Amino acid sequence: MNLVKLCRQSRAPGLPALLAGALALATTLAGGPAAAAPQDTLHELAAAQGRYFGSATDNPELSDAAYTARLGSEFGQLTPGNSMKWDTTEPARGRFDFAKGDVITDFARQHGQTVRGHTLVWHSQLPGWVGSLPPAQVETAMTDHITAEATHYRGAVTAWDVVNEPFNEDGTFRTSPFYTALGSDYIASALRAAHAADPDARLYLNDYNIEGLGAKSDAMYALVRDLLDEGVPLDGVGMQAHLAVQYGFPYEMRANMQRFADLGLDVAVTELDVRMQLPADAAKLATQSSYYRQVTEACLAVERCVGITVWDYTDKYSWVPSTFPGEGAANLYDDGLLPKPAYTAVRTALGDEDDGGENGGDPGALKVRYRSGDSSPGDNQIKPGLQLVNTGTTPVSLPDVTVRYWFTGDNGASTYGTWCDWSPLGCATVTHRVAALGSPAAGADHYLEVGFGSGSLAPGASTGEIQLRLSKTDWSDFDESDDYSHTTGTSYADAPKIGVYVGGEPVWGIEP
Ligand code: G3I
Repeated sequence: MNLVKLCRQSRAPGLPALLAGALALATTLAGGPAAAAPQDTLHELAAAQGRYFGSATDNPELSDAAYTARLGSEFGQLTPGNSMKWDTTEPARGRFDFAKGDVITDFARQHGQTVRGHTLVWHSQLPGWVGSLPPAQVETAMTDHITAEATHYRGAVTAWDVVNEPFNEDGTFRTSPFYTALGSDYIASALRAAHAADPDARLYLNDYNIEGLGAKSDAMYALVRDLLDEGVPLDGVGMQAHLAVQYGFPYEMRANMQRFADLGLDVAVTELDVRMQLPADAAKLATQSSYYRQVTEACLAVERCVGITVWDYTDKYSWVPSTFPGEGAANLYDDGLLPKPAYTAVRTALGDEDDGGENGGDPGALKVRYRSGDSSPGDNQIKPGLQLVNTGTTPVSLPDVTVRYWFTGDNGASTYGTWCDWSPLGCATVTHRVAALGSPAAGADHYLEVGFGSGSLAPGASTGEIQLRLSKTDWSDFDESDDYSHTTGTSYADAPKIGVYVGGEPVWGIEP
């Protein structure tokens, strides 16, 4: 069989969401380019794809002229990091103060930017008087607060994080004065009050660690489905995306976004940053770049993902170092306001055609070599040995790469255990899992997916041998002889029936 290097598929731009669509339309009407020009800003690149690209900001930073110059030019949307929170806007019951928030909306108006309101109801940065209220007064205090703030910002705020961070990590509801007084009904009540105050604003629930599939995003999914069933006004789900290179990329982010979109909701990436243990180094920055890029690609792949907001654009004003001592370097620009590799990675993902190869050149220049480490194809384990080789001329960021080895599970359990037995990269860097194929094919109803938590592969370099192993959880036998990716070769050879993907797109191998 001939070796086939699959072409990278072109990405069809999704239908623009309302706001972003208006931006794209404005570009077209102004005679602007359909494709992004090299000098375009992040927001212009995003707008050409029907999305916005925004940044959080905060009042103290607005006296930094170099900072505001970039804030006003590169980004099309702002989120106030603190100045619309309850402790600022209603520090005492009935005493409202919108001065700081107004500074942000004024800045945005002057720079043609939209504003995401953050946030009306949250357990944190809540003035003490709310927690001291008798439970019977909590709902009125909450709806009064929402009514006053959302009314004040009518026309200036296009979307609200109405309720922020309602869930614990295990998907149970987080305790707060609102939950204690009203149970989870406080969420519907808050959304209704926000809609009544500003019927034109897009209303969101927002949380962190809901970017990937998991217990917490399942809980958000169940909540929003119920709210929609009840006819509660809700337009979208905000995924904060406070990521860290040491914790890996969220599991199946694109699929997770899509399931919310399939309910008829918008999705927004609302607080993106990618922190790391300091000091930063080239490998960590490469991993960070790949995370920023993967988030951007996930958003572009989901039609209802309306845009991305970074949680401030520079390390200079990041919340991370004070909250996670020893960590930082989380943003697109460094402390000196110079763009980092992640900035270029985002530009490339947004379709910039002029990154000059700085961001890794042709990411498709990879191949995989394979040997069977298994002399007993009828026993209860499959033992592929793999080597990933960079055949190109530029480095490849390993966290972008996944490899698929296709096999049949035969009879017995359909759940699996997987292991990395040895790798010169260190098995801690190698991720592995078994996934079922949506449509089984000859010789393949499952695949072993191998990935990498960090690192990059230099031009011409190989990962060296990665010894993998899998079994069914009932330890029943396989018949590997008909498995799609299996060969009996015990020396390494190019493996056209094993797939290599970069950013989820096939770059090597023939799928079954
Ligand atoms: O304003 C006071 C100042 O007067 C005082 O001198 C100083 C001393 O610590 O504190 C200042 O308040 C700080 C405030 O930011 C304004 O700068 C608080 O201590 C500090 O805790 C607060 O941190 C904010 C954090 O939310 C609070 O949870 C961050 O700036 C803000 O970026 C962060 O944003 C949150 C989102 O709202 C929700 N998602 C997570 C995200 C990151 O934590």
